[in-house]
Amino acid sequence: MTNRLILATTATVLAVGGMLGAAAPSAPVGTKGSAGVGDPLLPLSGDGGLHVRHYALALTYQPKTQRLDGTAVLSATATQDLSGFDLDLAGLDVKRVTVDGQAVGYDRNGQKLEISLGHSVADGAEFKIAVDYGGTPHALTDADGSSDGWTALPGDQGAFVAGEPQGAMTWFPCNGHPADKSTYDITVTVPQGYTAVGNGVLRTQHTAAGRSTFSWHESAPMAAYLATASVGRFDVDQYWTASGLPVYTAVDPAEADDAADVLDQLPDVITWEQSLFGPYPFDSAGAIVMHDKDIGYALEAQTRPVYDEAPDLDTLVHETAHQWFGDSVTVTQWKDIWLNEGFATYAEWLWDAGHGGAGPHDRLAQLYAKPATDQLWSYPPGDPGDLSHLFGVPSYARGAMTLQELREAVGDQAFFTILKKWAADHRHAHGTTAEFEALAAGVSGKNLEALFATWLYSAGKPAKM
Ligand code: ARG
Ligand code: ZN
Repeated sequence: MTNRLILATTATVLAVGGMLGAAAPSAPVGTKGSAGVGDPLLPLSGDGGLHVRHYALALTYQPKTQRLDGTAVLSATATQDLSGFDLDLAGLDVKRVTVDGQAVGYDRNGQKLEISLGHSVADGAEFKIAVDYGGTPHALTDADGSSDGWTALPGDQGAFVAGEPQGAMTWFPCNGHPADKSTYDITVTVPQGYTAVGNGVLRTQHTAAGRSTFSWHESAPMAAYLATASVGRFDVDQYWTASGLPVYTAVDPAEADDAADVLDQLPDVITWEQSLFGPYPFDSAGAIVMHDKDIGYALEAQTRPVYDEAPDLDTLVHETAHQWFGDSVTVTQWKDIWLNEGFATYAEWLWDAGHGGAGPHDRLAQLYAKPATDQLWSYPPGDPGDLSHLFGVPSYARGAMTLQELREAVGDQAFFTILKKWAADHRHAHGTTAEFEALAAGVSGKNLEALFATWLYSAGKPAKM
């Protein structure tokens, strides 16, 4: 691929493409990318007209004033002829946008940063977008009432940064839908005494003139919602596991005592999950433990889950399992969220079964006993229907029940082959529910249509199979 933007004059475009027809002579060729990648649950999210290969974010954060300033450089590839495109950005002020070094026009329209190229980019061309921006980031309130995005903690404690499903745009301009995955460099400067923790490997860290800069590199493709740059006055621990995986944990001192025993088990949890799901998909691991009970959830940030408080072991097992299911194998549409939450919940069940708890067969029976009015049956996990359902009980528990039903239908050997093959076939990429159903049928040689129709798609409590 060429590393250049096609700065076509109308004349050259006519000569090359010859299909401009009646377009005004000065009009750039191509169309604007789509508004949104076409996800019915978040119709505005992303732009289908470009793929971002890499984000280089250089940020400065002041916990006291909660001000964020930065430059985002997006290395992009056009996936159609483009005359412009939209990035996602909620709040913050944009100071300048350049494309391949030339200033371009832009507009703000709701969550969209609309960029007009003033010239054409041909399908397949590579180009670099640089956005200078700054301001006070504000988390979004999601349909279920939870907050999502850059969340400043009270006082000058720092920031909890987790963006599922759409909070990435509260802190950097992005192609914010998980259908597009990218590698990342995240460099954050904070006042001395604070640590800024991103995804992947810490490449450099230096302190001068009262400021510390941390440079993180994530080398595997990552969905924007899994990016983090959490800031706190953390206790930091860095070590290598026995198999040579670098681990970086950052813990708010107020949670250190509660977190220590569970975090010590991270290498063992990874080893155990590798035995079930195949090789750990990334080149680093770790955890960020904040001290803010108001947030009410953890997020499986790639390589470095962010916890709102010291996690219990089930939560550590859950977020670690997401590294395979969610982070490495990513949804292309949010309606497939059970592929993340059902699988991570099933990992908890497997862990409990091996550690003196009820096995998945008993968990299935206990849950099935819940009355038809229980929220467990409030929507089918394969079709959540409404954005507020994304992280509801059925996505987690009925998703995991679906996997146990599958296991009982195909037997242990086929079931665990399916899990490993799912992680391997879609590693660092995407997977859909239809693809999972096809894989399960292919590996087991069974017709599973009724099983999936019942457990994933039927409304209400399924009649016992
Ligand atoms: N994926 C997270 C988990 O591990 C939940 C994220 C919830 N996000 C939110 N905005 N409520 O279950
Ligand atoms: Zn989860």
